[in-house]
Amino acid sequence: MKTQVGIIGAGPAGLLVARILQLNGIDSVILERRTRAYVLERVRAGVLEAGTVDTLRAYGMGERLNREGIPMRSMQLCWDRQKADISLDDGTGRHLTTYGQQKIVEDLILQREADGLPIVFEADVSSLDDIENAPRIHYRHNGEDKVLECQFIAGCDGYHGVSRRHIPGSDEHVFLTEYPFAWLGILAEAAPLAARRGFAHSTRGLAVASARSASVGRLYLQVETDADPNAMSDQQIWDELDIRMDDGTAAQLNRGPIIERSVARLRGYVCEKMRHGRLAIAGDAAHIVPPSGGKGLNLAVGDARIMAEAIRRLLTTNDTTLLDSYSQMCLRRIWPTVHWACSMCEALHIFPGQTSFQTRMQYQTLNHWGNTEIGQQRLRKAQLGLPYEI
Ligand code: APR
Repeated sequence: MKTQVGIIGAGPAGLLVARILQLNGIDSVILERRTRAYVLERVRAGVLEAGTVDTLRAYGMGERLNREGIPMRSMQLCWDRQKADISLDDGTGRHLTTYGQQKIVEDLILQREADGLPIVFEADVSSLDDIENAPRIHYRHNGEDKVLECQFIAGCDGYHGVSRRHIPGSDEHVFLTEYPFAWLGILAEAAPLAARRGFAHSTRGLAVASARSASVGRLYLQVETDADPNAMSDQQIWDELDIRMDDGTAAQLNRGPIIERSVARLRGYVCEKMRHGRLAIAGDAAHIVPPSGGKGLNLAVGDARIMAEAIRRLLTTNDTTLLDSYSQMCLRRIWPTVHWACSMCEALHIFPGQTSFQTRMQYQTLNHWGNTEIGQQRLRKAQLGLPYEI
């Protein structure tokens, strides 16, 4: 099979690169390891920066988002039985939007299929070769070994993908930290309460309450790295969430059946070498942020914008200037965002062996972000996201 751009991965990064290329008249084929059903059902992030919303709208993907997206104009921090409700209004009218990543993925897949464009599901990419001249992607599909010949490879295959390893010397450019705890994430049919939302620090561990829709909540508990998602009953999870989110008021979370559970490790990861020859990586393939900032999806969108434009310039005018500066341009958004997400992670979680003194230091950080003007400005700026260069 031949195409102009071979895209590995049908997550937000790969699907958005494909969409932007399509609207610029550039053909692509997406190769996705998982089944279509698995990709559509995967529950992930759900807080969109204004830039992400603008990007999706700009590429014709705003119809359901405009209908179902929930504006988020404030953010709550809770610690030591007190709460700060921080306005995210920076005077520009920008705000965050709650809209599940799986809806973005579904919107992009349905649009691509409606346009009759190829996504090959259950296509497991094993290796890449000749990435400097005439790239080829080797993959297995329907029990056969196949090859996709292309002019450029977009490596959008996530943290466990194969692309990054085909960038020569990339191991020397990887920066990684693994946190000694995980998140138990649940989806629950329980109407999220505006008054009981946000991040909570508790000596029992972090808790997070957020909305996926007006009737579905997305909530998290800090757990051990080897925690069994089914170890606690629904009631035990709700009880633990209420204990940890105690903000000194009598408010309690709305409860309801838990319809999805998962345990995810927390790590920070950046590969600073994001391109070699006619291969570039974007999204989780290049960086992972702890979910405490809700930034992974937004960073993937930022990368996708730059990558698609760099590919367009290469394939239409053989101009490689943007491609040559691709990594540096992406990293100008990646590192500050990783730093913010890790700062939130380190202020909100209880670490093994943490002393009461260290807990008091965390209280000071949270008080700074929640109750001081300069701290609120810092939080607001980080949460609303950095501007795009392209
Ligand atoms: N061959 C084909 N597809 C692959 C391979 C492979 N060898 N390896 C991984 N993939 C696919 C995965 O199945 C997945 O669907 O690549 C896709 C990568 O998608 P994501 O992991 O969603 O990564 P990305 O598109 O960068 O989006 C980042 O997703 O994981 C969340 O928190 C993260 O919100 C962030 C967003």
